[in-house]
Amino acid sequence: METGVKLFLLSELRERGSVRFPLPDPRFEGFAVRAADGTVHAYLNVCSHRAQPVDVGDGRLWQPSGEIECQAHGARFDPATGACMGGPCDGQPLTPLAIEIRDGAAWLITSTA
Ligand code: FES
Repeated sequence: METGVKLFLLSELRERGSVRFPLPDPRFEGFAVRAADGTVHAYLNVCSHRAQPVDVGDGRLWQPSGEIECQAHGARFDPATGACMGGPCDGQPLTPLAIEIRDGAAWLITSTA
């Protein structure tokens, strides 16, 4: 059975912006971006390079190229897939979060037995 945890309202996520949100496991945080095609993608806010937050909320996440960049050491990722596009991530992608869009909000999909 699938259920969900409400993460954020879509109205909070502007184009070339981001939203950070807590996760059920309080050790972690997530962030979401809207890709060029308008789709919303969410990731664990932990860089695949040295586990620093990718999105620190300072508005410098997005690059002119359309990639998102970790501010710690400059790893660049595809906002639509989380794939490493260059820099010290060395081919290691972001960790995607399974979300569902409904009722004007993004929901974390969680499974229960
Ligand atoms: S921790 Fe993100 S680039 Fe190093």
